[in-house]
Amino acid sequence: MAPRKFFVGGNWKMNGDKKSLGELIHTLNGAKLSADTEVVCGAPSIYLDFARQKLDAKIGVAAQNCYKVPKGAFTGEISPAMIKDIGAAWVILGHSERRHVFGESDELIGQKVAHALAEGLGVIACIGEKLDEREAGITEKVVFEQTKAIADNVKDWSKVVLAYEPVWAIGTGKTATPQQVLVSLKMEQGSVTGANCKELASQHDVDGFLVGGASLKPEFVDIINAKH
Ligand code: G3P
Repeated sequence: MAPRKFFVGGNWKMNGDKKSLGELIHTLNGAKLSADTEVVCGAPSIYLDFARQKLDAKIGVAAQNCYKVPKGAFTGEISPAMIKDIGAAWVILGHSERRHVFGESDELIGQKVAHALAEGLGVIACIGEKLDEREAGITEKVVFEQTKAIADNVKDWSKVVLAYEPVWAIGTGKTATPQQVLVSLKMEQGSVTGANCKELASQHDVDGFLVGGASLKPEFVDIINAKH
């Protein structure tokens, strides 16, 4: 199997509108992006079709969540089949905001991973400890349990990117030091910016990034090209 390309995901979270996202997409489509980097943009559900239609085909599109069954009475949810129906090929699952704002358990995330993979989607599976867990010295225990709940539902790792996102770094501008980044199993990390991306990308055990705030800015192009 050919070695995986450096992976850069953008998580737009609950941000943007057609005007601002259209401008960002125009910037990405017009930029020279390294052919050695795989790029996937995570759009809000309501803009998934818009993003897929507007983004150049070389850039993948991800939903930011999905449910664990094909269809049914689950108001507000979307299914992997719907994500594929609009041409997107990825889904972000287990993001810390799904875990700590919306109460998703390791078990539910594992079930979602299983269903998304069974339906043929690529999965960006997120793990990461909270500050109090790191300060309590239970980072490895927490991250192991999160990873196990995901790994128990994966047969083909070629369709999975594991994103390590220390919750205490997300959205703060703080960045996990390369030394704090766990050994790569397709690990990514939060709070990457145009300023720190080259140093982080140079670490042998960092295979990519999952970027929040900076993925909504033109500097996302620099992050995409950070490895090359
Ligand atoms: O999913 C990536 C995100 O949580 C990281 O956020 O804004 O710190 O890059 P940010």
